Amino acid sequence: MSDTSSSDTKSVRSNIQRRMQTLRWLLLVAVVGTGVHFAIQYVSGGTSVYSIESPVLPLIEELERSDPELGKKARAGMNRFNKNCRLCHHPTGHGGKFTPSLLGHTEDSIKVMLNHYRDGQKVGPMTNLMAPWAKELSDEEIHILGIYIELLQQAPSSK
Ligand code: HEC
Repeated sequence: MSDTSSSDTKSVRSNIQRRMQTLRWLLLVAVVGTGVHFAIQYVSGGTSVYSIESPVLPLIEELERSDPELGKKARAGMNRFNKNCRLCHHPTGHGGKFTPSLLGHTEDSIKVMLNHYRDGQKVGPMTNLMAPWAKELSDEEIHILGIYIELLQQAPSSK
C-alpha cells in the first residue's frame, strides 16, 4: 500500500519536473528571442524590425491613387528595400557609418550600380560587402528598387 502511494508520488513528481523543464525552455526561448529582437533594433538604429516605416509611404499612397501601375511598383520596391537594404543604408537611404547614401541617385543610376555589383565588378573599397546583396536581385527587383530609391529623395527629412 505504502509502496504504491510512494511510486504515485514519484510519478507525480517526475511529471511536475518534466513540466518545469518545458517551462524553463519556453522561458529561455522567450528571453533569448526578446534579446535578439532588441539587439537587431539597436543595430538598425532604433526602428522596430516589425513596424518598418517608410519616410515616403504617404507619397506611395498618393501614387497608388494617381498612377496605380507605378504606385504598385514603388510599394513593391519599398518592401524589397526594407527586407535587406535598409539594414545597411538606413530606412531613409541616407546611409550609415560605413555605407554610402543612396540619395541623389536616379532609377537609372541605381540600375547601373546594382548591375556592376551583380556582375562581380569592383566598385568601391567595400564592394565585397555590397556585392552578395546585389547578386540575389532579379532584373525586376533592380527596376522596382530603383523606382523606390529615387522616390526616397522626396522624403520630408531629406529635403
Ligand atoms: C551589409 C550591408 C549592405 C547591404 C545589406 C546592402 N548594401 Fe548597398 N552598399 C553597401 C556598401 C558597403 C556599399 C559601398 C560598396 C563599395 O565600396 O563599392 C554599398 C553600395 C551600394 C550602392 C552604390 C552607391 C553609390 O553611390 O556608390 C547601391 C546603389 C546600393 N548599395 C544599393 C543597395 C541595395 C538596393 C541593397 C538591397 C538589395 C543594398 N544596397 C544592400 C552595403 C550594403
